[in-house]
Amino acid sequence: MPNSKPQKLKINEVGTRDGLQNEPIFVDTDDKIALVDELSGLGYAKIEVTSFTSPSAIPALRDAEVVMHRIQRMPGVVYTALIPNVRGGDRALECGVDEFNLVMSASETHNLANLRMTRSQSLTQLADVVRLAHNAQVPVNISLSCVFGCPMEGEVSESEVINLVGKFAELGAVGVTLCDTTGMAYPTQVTQVCEAVLKAYPGLNVTGHFHNTRGMGLTNVLAALQAGVTQFDMSLGGIGGCPYAPGASGNVATEDVVHMLNCMGYDTGLQIEGLIAAAHHLEALIGHDLPAQVSRSGPRLTRHDPPAGFEEIRERAWNREQSKGQI
Ligand code: COA
Ligand code: ZN
Repeated sequence: MPNSKPQKLKINEVGTRDGLQNEPIFVDTDDKIALVDELSGLGYAKIEVTSFTSPSAIPALRDAEVVMHRIQRMPGVVYTALIPNVRGGDRALECGVDEFNLVMSASETHNLANLRMTRSQSLTQLADVVRLAHNAQVPVNISLSCVFGCPMEGEVSESEVINLVGKFAELGAVGVTLCDTTGMAYPTQVTQVCEAVLKAYPGLNVTGHFHNTRGMGLTNVLAALQAGVTQFDMSLGGIGGCPYAPGASGNVATEDVVHMLNCMGYDTGLQIEGLIAAAHHLEALIGHDLPAQVSRSGPRLTRHDPPAGFEEIRERAWNREQSKGQI
């Protein structure tokens, strides 16, 4: 818990990538650009703008180049994108992304379903993409899916996770994102795995990426924080999910997580009012209710009018109190 000086946390918005990739409708390119521009002014450390994946695999983000080129970049914000292979890396470099976010899964089955490669093939590909990025002096983060369980295989072993993170460190990645792709993580597991990764690779930036599929998203964020993780991915409105992971649903909602962390005294750099306004804009774009809570309820000190007839209730109560006092 923070004491005198608030602890600074880095908040990464992934709604325009993890979020929109799982929406059935194609959000208009201009609307995507306007949304990223709105988010840019809110105080995020990083925005995952889009993904340079195959347009047949992720049709919702087939406009990656146009979006990346036309957003207004705010100094201090890192603009990243998801990249599955060398082709994606080439496309991202042409758009001048600030960071590559590469991806592979800790589960063999999910890696095959999502990327159509074995994990061993993915590692070879990753090395090629890292080389490409490093030649262009672009830093690399690697998102590891299904760290806390796989919807097709079940448990994923912690030693396998540590082993893969070690390979990413050897490749020269500056960071790793531990992804709970389908909300299978639970708090004690999160603390244990995050502590183990931080201890084994203290030089890596470790980011927590949780989905709220089973309602444990916020507690998992706290568990990761307790383990020493200070960077988190989250998605405005709580939308999101991997289309190639059965049962996937939304990320932890940015407004819910930031609301909690701000209440607890952490410095997230984000104000809740701006997030709520952006969430309402997003809701209008995707045309359905958001899973998030705080964009509907408002922050905890939101004041409501008392019920109808309240004046009369109060007067009667006061009168009773007074007549009692006179006895
Ligand atoms: N960008 C654009 N097009 C790409 C591409 C990329 N990064 N990578 C491959 N393609 C194209 C190929 O040119 C080919 O096109 P064609 O059919 O018109 O010739 C087609 O996609 C298939 O290429 P191939 O190399 O055989 O890829 P694949 O079918 O084995 O798919 C991936 C591999 C990784 C490209 C694909 O599975 C993918 O994009 N997955 C991303 C999944 C994802 O983002 N999940 C959610 C996030 S975790
Ligand atoms: Zn995700």
